[in-house]
Amino acid sequence: MIITKVDAWEALDSRGHPTVAAQVVLEDGSDGVAMTPAGASAGSHEALELRDGGSRYGGRGVQSAVKNIRTVLAPLVVGCAAADVDTALAHADPSPSFRNLGANAILAVSLAAARADAAAHGVSLARHLAGESGALLLPMPMINILSGGAHAGGMLDVQDFLVIPVGATSFAEALEWAAAVRTAATRVALGRGHAQAVLVADEGGLGLPLETNRAALELLVDAIEVAGFTPGSQVAIAVDVAATQFCHEGVYRFARENRDMSAGELVAEIAEWCDDFPIVSVEDILAEDDWHGWRKATAALGERVELVGDDLFVTSPALLRRGIEARVGNSVLVKVNQNGLVSGAAEVMDAARAAGYRTVVSARSGETEDSWLADLAVGWRAGQIKVGSTHRSERTAKWNRLLQLEATEDTRFAGPWPNGRAEGKTA
Ligand code: PGA
Ligand code: ZN
Repeated sequence: MIITKVDAWEALDSRGHPTVAAQVVLEDGSDGVAMTPAGASAGSHEALELRDGGSRYGGRGVQSAVKNIRTVLAPLVVGCAAADVDTALAHADPSPSFRNLGANAILAVSLAAARADAAAHGVSLARHLAGESGALLLPMPMINILSGGAHAGGMLDVQDFLVIPVGATSFAEALEWAAAVRTAATRVALGRGHAQAVLVADEGGLGLPLETNRAALELLVDAIEVAGFTPGSQVAIAVDVAATQFCHEGVYRFARENRDMSAGELVAEIAEWCDDFPIVSVEDILAEDDWHGWRKATAALGERVELVGDDLFVTSPALLRRGIEARVGNSVLVKVNQNGLVSGAAEVMDAARAAGYRTVVSARSGETEDSWLADLAVGWRAGQIKVGSTHRSERTAKWNRLLQLEATEDTRFAGPWPNGRAEGKTA
């Protein structure tokens, strides 16, 4: 199916910052529209997000990326088959990290073309990505309950405290349990005098000025129990430490606790949390370039918990390969805008699977009402998805799309997790 038209415009994301939207139209009139997300705690090795600078939107405008789509990418991809669009896009900007045209420009077209192609075939994007006979797998959700770091004004040092409803037997049940915990967390926090518990952080979690990270874990366990679940066997805990954010020249600093730690000390601290709380997944336990520390962390904790690389791997096939060879981490976070191409992120999925690494498809802290991520998770059979909390419409857009896919497509659910642990193989 040949691409006949490509358009682009500047839209707004959930932080009120501009983001790139694109439309791809095919010869039969089918079309696809997609919007790109944006991170706040972005890794420095991510594909380039092109911003205009200057005074508009505090320098965050994306008119230059939009112009690149209209004037450079559109003339190149019009006339191409939708299925070949990623090859054409990669040729259009052969620079590392899409520095010439911007990964936000490239990705918007890549996603919109995939959507248009699915529409032309009369199938969902999830089905299109899975192939005609491929199984569709609903992911186990990881739901943000308490937020810190760059998503909540530094209220806590650790960025995300999440729950995984490991005992749930369907996606809908998993979401229902998570929503109950989120509601209970508000109640528990209000009961302890945290008036801020009625407000929401960037990803819809609670941003509370707790004294320590441990206090957040304690509150989370209380919320799980108040909601009526057994911590561990029914609802387990995940943390995204996002350690890059508080690492300066090799020193890890918990500002709220006024503590400086070496990589080894931070890993020892988190190992203690894993002893004391039902934690099954730890993301970005150390900073993006701390490969030495990561190797030790993997040796210490890799058999016990999921160790997810986000800033470490930045959805880059080359960095993931390096991690696999060096036995670093055992899971990869997949954020397509870190890569820039749908096919590039799919390559990371395949490489992870081949090496026995688990895969978590993830939204960004800056999102839109667009829900393509849900289809990617299901069609790619990622096994896990991280979208933020059960609050805020840019989050529920993805949850609601997953509920729709569960209701309308022939799917299987990636849970429950035996013994609270993800199966090694999710495909
Ligand atoms: P970001 O955070 O989208 O702000 O980078 C999400 C994450 O760290 O997982
Ligand atoms: Zn992260």
